[in-house]
Amino acid sequence: MTNETLTYDILVIGSGIAGLTFALKVADRRKVAVVTKKEKVETSTNYAQGGIASVLSPEDSFDLHIQDTITSGDGLCHPDVVEMVVRSGPDRIQELFQMGVGFVQAKQESVAFDLGREGGHSRNRIVHARDMTGREVEGVLVGLAEAHANIDLFENHIAIDLIIECHLLKRGLLTTQRQERCWGAYVLDIEGNTLLTFLATDTLLCTGGAGKVYVYTSNPDVATGDGVAMAYRAGAQISNMEFVQFHPTCLYHPHAKNFLITEAVRGEGGRLIDKSGRAFMEKYHPLKDLACRDVVARAIDTEIKHSGDDCVYLDISHRDNDFLRQRFPTIYEKCLSLGMDVSREPIPVVPAAHYMCGGVSTDRCGRTSIQHLYALGESACTGLHGANRLASNSLLEALVFAHSAAEDLNSQPTSLAERTAFPLVPPLKMPSTANNSEMVLIAYNWDIIRRLMWNYVGIVRTDNRLRLAQNHLAQIQREINEHYPNISLNSDLIELKNLATVAEIIVACALRRRESRGLHFNVDYPNKDDERWRRDTRISLEQWS
Ligand code: FUM
Repeated sequence: MTNETLTYDILVIGSGIAGLTFALKVADRRKVAVVTKKEKVETSTNYAQGGIASVLSPEDSFDLHIQDTITSGDGLCHPDVVEMVVRSGPDRIQELFQMGVGFVQAKQESVAFDLGREGGHSRNRIVHARDMTGREVEGVLVGLAEAHANIDLFENHIAIDLIIECHLLKRGLLTTQRQERCWGAYVLDIEGNTLLTFLATDTLLCTGGAGKVYVYTSNPDVATGDGVAMAYRAGAQISNMEFVQFHPTCLYHPHAKNFLITEAVRGEGGRLIDKSGRAFMEKYHPLKDLACRDVVARAIDTEIKHSGDDCVYLDISHRDNDFLRQRFPTIYEKCLSLGMDVSREPIPVVPAAHYMCGGVSTDRCGRTSIQHLYALGESACTGLHGANRLASNSLLEALVFAHSAAEDLNSQPTSLAERTAFPLVPPLKMPSTANNSEMVLIAYNWDIIRRLMWNYVGIVRTDNRLRLAQNHLAQIQREINEHYPNISLNSDLIELKNLATVAEIIVACALRRRESRGLHFNVDYPNKDDERWRRDTRISLEQWS
């Protein structure tokens, strides 16, 4: 495998809404590389159906959106961050609209956009592009980034590890330590089979979530927790990874993979029913089908466990065919392609892993605990979501933090002088003889981890299952560390390492929290314990290794 070194002012790892918005905001004065491990639009953003929450109507207020976010976060939101994100929302939405994002406009004059409703929101405040909001946003941002002279987009390039100055020092590759900081990342060019050393004065992690750590997920295949795993290995602080959000309604069908039925369907009157047609949500919460996600997902889990059925159903058949085709074209067509007419029959649904509320800990500008390393979007834990993210607050968070990180960087002098001071970073070492007959082990361990996490670290947890999961994962990690260095590097192996690391972090955080709060429900500690546990769970590698 050949090696090459590339130098940039900024390295952005991930090409979703956070990374591209940030890149566009800093590229006028800096040279930016955006690396993405598949095609440029293949991001979690691209699959977001519902929309972006923001205060955009005279019937709504910042206070109400703040309150809804904090209620959902169940005691762990950072109020200053919530305030910053909510108040900045309307400007960020306006920016996207000016860039050309085709949000559906309102029919009445008092508001600009049609505003949907989702669980936990006390007002209609979800700006959307029908049920393909993410695709619309991603398409516009990719177009602008490709047209920008200072942005280079590298598709099919997967980041392997961050380049951290004190790690180089420890390996004897630097003689004097200047400071503990990030200098870019090692990256594999998948198609060119080349190892690249991307040197950059600032590095941004925005690799999306880690839903693929569970066997059932609404996330696309790219969501393997790469950012969190790399940051953890680099020594950064990680927070709140026990708070995994399970979306209540993913399509249940043997030929449907990872297909979400947006919560906006319930916002338009959809009701959850069991096999006999009985609505059940009123048993669980006064807000019924529009209760927060953790409540709805646990209710469905309980119904399925009690009845022994494979799924429950979401019924929107009281809305007419024209409305459904117009408002939810993607869902309508997908279901029709599987032989279901949603205007006449209920949709079979199950909960599935959807969103990581935890991630790399950041401050209000997206800065992590390692200098010159930022984290944004689902890879980050900013303090906005607390123990349970309010629906459609995530794209908003990505936009607001991309803006504040860019402001932070733009307030500093351009880094040309610093670029000349890059340390001499040696290329990554590869095995001299690779044994690729072991590839079958990679596929096997992928599968084991995902099933283990679903069965032992799912919607409802116990200490016993968490400890068993911890033991199994430690065994898998040992196998990866001892046997896999002899397999030549490829994207499946890189992702497996990241999945295993993220799974271990989720379990470690879940074991630490001896209470039930938000998305974390442990039957051994069924109550909330504000006195001892109203705080973030923080975890990092104890020593550099
Ligand atoms: O149901 C949805 O459309 C999902 C929205 C979200 O995760 O924010």
